[in-house]
Amino acid sequence: MSDLLQMDATKLKALEQSFYLVEERGEEFTAAFYGRFFNIYPEVRVTFSNTNLPDQHRKLLKALKTIVGSLRNPDVLEPYLGQLGNQHKDAYVVADTDFQMFKRALMDTFEEFLGDDFSDEAREAWSEAYDKISGVMKGSVESGQ
Ligand code: HEM
Repeated sequence: MSDLLQMDATKLKALEQSFYLVEERGEEFTAAFYGRFFNIYPEVRVTFSNTNLPDQHRKLLKALKTIVGSLRNPDVLEPYLGQLGNQHKDAYVVADTDFQMFKRALMDTFEEFLGDDFSDEAREAWSEAYDKISGVMKGSVESGQ
């Protein structure tokens, strides 16, 4: 698919820029993200009860780097997201509400780290991109392919 994101260039730049700003503190960022995710959504904690959290912080950071780094390259992005979706399907039950809570925690963590530097444009771009990213992940979850 060559038009996975269909996002205008200014928005895409705002998204990339916001990620580069938090990437410097990447593991701190993903640790804060999971802290927030478990706080606003305590029910999900049990899903991660056997998880090595520091490893998971690193894995999510790596995934975000891969995703942001390939937004302009859908031929790389799409199979990557399909695979990530399948990994989730194989190992855990992830519902739509989980993806929504994940999104909320992710957006709020950007806000926490960037404050006013998290521009409306960047927020919109992440929101749109996240919906598409999770849509592709869920697509492979639901279709079982
Ligand atoms: C865009 C959204 C998401 C991204 C980018 C993402 C990313 C990842 C990555 C990279 C891994 C490690 C995969 C591996 O190497 O095995 C992982 C594992 C996991 N994810 Fe997600 N994830 C997302 C959404 C979710 C949601 C909504 C849930 C629901 C609770 C979830 C639950 C888990 C669990 C339980 C693991 C396994 C942890 C373990 O190894 O014990 N993820 N995720």
